[in-house]
Amino acid sequence: MSDSKFDSLNIASNLMTRHCLGIAATGGGKSNFLNLILKQQMMSGGGAIHIDGKANREEILKFLNLARQHDRWQDVRIINISDASISNTYNPLLRGDNDEITSRIMQLLDGNKGDPYFRGQAARGMRAIAGMLTAFGLPFNFGDLNVLMSNESAMRWMLKNGPKETKEYRDFKIFLDQMMEVDRRTGQQIINEKKMQHTFGDLASRLHSYYVNEAGKVLNEYNPELDIYDAIKNNLLVYVSLPMLSKSEIAVDFAKFLVSDIRTAIGQVQNDDYKPSPTFLVLMDEFSSYAQASLAPVFEQARSSNICMFPFIQTYSSLKDKERGLSDDFAAKIFGNTWNKISFLLQESESCEVMSQIAGESLQKSVSESFSESLSFASGDDDSSALRAGGRGRGFGKSISYGYDKIVRPEDFRTLKDGEAIYIGRNSVVKIQVPLLSFNNDNKELDFPRFRMPDKQGLDIASKYHTFSNEG
Ligand SMILES: Nc1ncnc2c1ncn2[C@@H]1O[C@H](COP(=O)(O)OP(=O)(O)O)[C@@H](O)[C@H]1O
Ligand SMILES: [Mg+2]
Repeated sequence: MSDSKFDSLNIASNLMTRHCLGIAATGGGKSNFLNLILKQQMMSGGGAIHIDGKANREEILKFLNLARQHDRWQDVRIINISDASISNTYNPLLRGDNDEITSRIMQLLDGNKGDPYFRGQAARGMRAIAGMLTAFGLPFNFGDLNVLMSNESAMRWMLKNGPKETKEYRDFKIFLDQMMEVDRRTGQQIINEKKMQHTFGDLASRLHSYYVNEAGKVLNEYNPELDIYDAIKNNLLVYVSLPMLSKSEIAVDFAKFLVSDIRTAIGQVQNDDYKPSPTFLVLMDEFSSYAQASLAPVFEQARSSNICMFPFIQTYSSLKDKERGLSDDFAAKIFGNTWNKISFLLQESESCEVMSQIAGESLQKSVSESFSESLSFASGDDDSSALRAGGRGRGFGKSISYGYDKIVRPEDFRTLKDGEAIYIGRNSVVKIQVPLLSFNNDNKELDFPRFRMPDKQGLDIASKYHTFSNEG
């Protein structure tokens, strides 16, 4: 059978315009598949954010070379918190209202650990600070937050210079009053350092990690080179290198900041007249490790904003991991909100069971569909054969008529070979052969577009603090 037009299902275009969940054991072929999607997106002139759990020069080079090969080099932006010399600058604290900024920062505190009372205090304090910072109307960074939370003079500076007529100012003052005590020697109101330390100690030290070292150089500009909302508007190609293995805690927390910023940007696009075209892709490798419950509704928002999410995971159970603040409900929502699913080789039984069940449910909705369709992308360009029809494997259609209760049995997911995958769409279940993308990675030049950004006035509390300490 040839993959004639008549034969081929519209998987290709569906794949690029609908949320797609990917699942595979390590080595199953997720990265290869995501790169094929990227290639296709680059060819069509679309934009993408690729959050990659592999962090090394070779992967960055691959992304750059892929972009070069499709004449998209000028659209590349790189975020790499382990090496600022191979990164554009980016500040995830520039967009969002008080609530969004507060919850973005509060993600740093593990919901299951520590004293809930102080966690609540920290959240109230953070909200007061975020409100005040918004009232100032100046960009701020991790250093500013860190210094505010650990330095009395900085807090007093805010009180002295803040916009006094605002509600935010009053809220901030109320919060600060709670932190105050009378100095027994002088009779003056001073900040109770113990209280401050209990309230903000954990948060301040977590924030500190994003103000120092390589991550610090990347993440603290008031006028950074990359803004996620602009990236979506301008079809840019953003590669995010997450050092999951070497610096997993920082990497995971950074990914949470980023995803929360993406969430805010999606909300903004949703309220705009503007919608990205072609559909903007957010490819999220290792999704479970930085997913948060608050992301579930974002999938719906993204859909109406013409933004397409690709959460890729290794196991079903990772998506409901209570240790990470996730739940059965979250997993169900992510599964429910992803129109397409693609599974490569799986190794543990729960994932196999779940995927089998999902394939089965899809069948009942559309028994009349053919199950031996092929997958191919529009050709034309000689190397556009991104995804091609391959071995058909088992005839799923037959399975039905002979009365198997499952289109794909759980054990079928365990025996998938290299490149073999089960695609589950709304109306079809197809076994496909995903081609192996051959990279031409001969070009070892790691140059990418950099920009000299004009200076922008920021809050600058961190640098003022240093002045204070010199005076003191
Ligand atoms: N479509 C494919 N066809 C043939 N081999 C593949 C295919 N996809 C992946 N592989 C092989 O499996 C290895 C791991 O693939 P990768 O995409 O990195 O997996 P994952 O990201 O799921 O860990 C690749 O280096 C390649 O050798
Ligand atoms: Mg991978």
